[in-house]
Amino acid sequence: MTVHPADRGVRDFQPGSHTTTDSGQPVPNDEFSAQVGQQGPQPIHDFYLIEKLAHFNRENIPERLPHAKGSGAFGEFVTTEDISDITCAGLFQKGVKTPMLARFSTVAGEKGSPDTWRDPRGFALKFYTEEGNYDLVGNNTPIFFIRDAIKFPDFIHSQRRKNASGLRNHAMQWDFWTLSPESTHQVTWLMGDRGIPKTWRHMDGFGSHTYQFINAEGVRHWVKFHFKTNQGIDFLTQAEADKLAGENADYHREDLYESIKNGDYPSWDLHVQVMPVDEAETYRYNPFDLTKTWSQRDYPLRKVGTMTLNRNPQNHHAQIEQAAFAPTNIVKGIGFSPDKMLLGRVFAYPDIQRYRIGANYQQVPVNRPLSPVNSYSKEGAMQFEFPHPAQAEYHPNTIGGPSADASKAFDIGSWDTKGSDIYRGDVSPHADDTDQVQAAILYREVMDDAARERLAANIAGHVSAIHPDETELLERVYAYWAAVDEGLCQAVKAGVEAGPRGNHRLQD
Ligand code: HEM
Repeated sequence: MTVHPADRGVRDFQPGSHTTTDSGQPVPNDEFSAQVGQQGPQPIHDFYLIEKLAHFNRENIPERLPHAKGSGAFGEFVTTEDISDITCAGLFQKGVKTPMLARFSTVAGEKGSPDTWRDPRGFALKFYTEEGNYDLVGNNTPIFFIRDAIKFPDFIHSQRRKNASGLRNHAMQWDFWTLSPESTHQVTWLMGDRGIPKTWRHMDGFGSHTYQFINAEGVRHWVKFHFKTNQGIDFLTQAEADKLAGENADYHREDLYESIKNGDYPSWDLHVQVMPVDEAETYRYNPFDLTKTWSQRDYPLRKVGTMTLNRNPQNHHAQIEQAAFAPTNIVKGIGFSPDKMLLGRVFAYPDIQRYRIGANYQQVPVNRPLSPVNSYSKEGAMQFEFPHPAQAEYHPNTIGGPSADASKAFDIGSWDTKGSDIYRGDVSPHADDTDQVQAAILYREVMDDAARERLAANIAGHVSAIHPDETELLERVYAYWAAVDEGLCQAVKAGVEAGPRGNHRLQD
């Protein structure tokens, strides 16, 4: 019988059992180490004392950079609709139930940082499918701050701590954002109500990038993933979030854990937007630009199924910290797209995981697929699974070993590259594309008056941390918002000038 991924790695527990070393030898004493005489030195051959101290020193692994603070739960995804006309992915065939793991997180804060800081939330999913692991590593926002992976380290540096002071600094955040106007849509979203969800259960999740669906006949469509919360969207005001940050840094982690413990299982319905491949070229927005959404009037949501989280982790470190989500993990029927952010991410995640967890991180129980592994990877630190000795360790061979079977394989995607010369430049703008167009729609058409007021107040509060002497930067901030809406700019300016001012300088 297959062991559920959530149950792998758990040791048997027998009440009344005796303590052992990590090698299983019963130990003589839990409280006293060995000593020469009553006041003498401690012998180095008291190996149990050494093991306890030495293992303790190695309890930490590098935290994720970014998305260090988060938590998650196991659950299942059930495909309730027939979408076989657009994808042949096994997990998305009607009636299929797939075990899965979800992890939610903030982006910029460290492992102990408050859950209620204003930040996008990670929405990372791992599906243990019969065709290998499929990961959808998204956020609670359908868009992102930048559209080229080359800017990602700079963007994250602007959000983290200053080299000199070790402090986070709003001046450098606004410096980066105003010099990267493609960030406007995401910053509007971030500073609005959805910038601090009430709980992880009360937010939607998005694949954000455009992906490719491929059906059994090889027909391709572009798709965007939307996970709609069944708990309803809800948010915290800045004041509520600030208070909670002081009272309970783990507010969101605790909420998810307690809900599941109490049998109140959160769920999300998955929908996709589907674009025929030949419509991409003429769509009014560049469909591969991660700073843009596709209008749901143009491409309505189509339901796929429901994800329910119903099992808490049994060990946070083993099952959540060591979990390795990667957009790299695709299965047959789902491919990538020309989105340059996505293509950069496909490299970045397994790379950091080899360093953060170790070369054989896919053998850790939480990351191990349910389907058989037949790769030619070998050795490396902490290898604890290995091929059958009768199997060849190279390809091609005459001994017998796995061979690729294209009919079962994933397809990384295929598209028109628009030329074959090496190119460096921005994505091509489509008819309605500007950096501000969708931020303005969000502000004017999606938000109501109260939400617009909270947006202006949240921006003003954030900008107020900048020292008033940073006049050139402040002018850039006002110009950034004026390009979205003059009224929003004036409301932000009035808010900044009315309130107390901070001491964040670019040079600190
Ligand atoms: C985590 C890189 C953009 C969502 C991470 C990690 C890296 C990374 C290195 C840490 C992974 C780990 O230690 O296991 C990048 C790069 C990006 C990018 C290079 C742009 C080129 C994005 C975007 C999204 C996203 C656009 C959402 C649509 C996440 C999430 C996590 C994460 C949810 C946490 C995964 C978890 O819970 O383990 N990113 N990222 N990232 N990233 Fe990105």
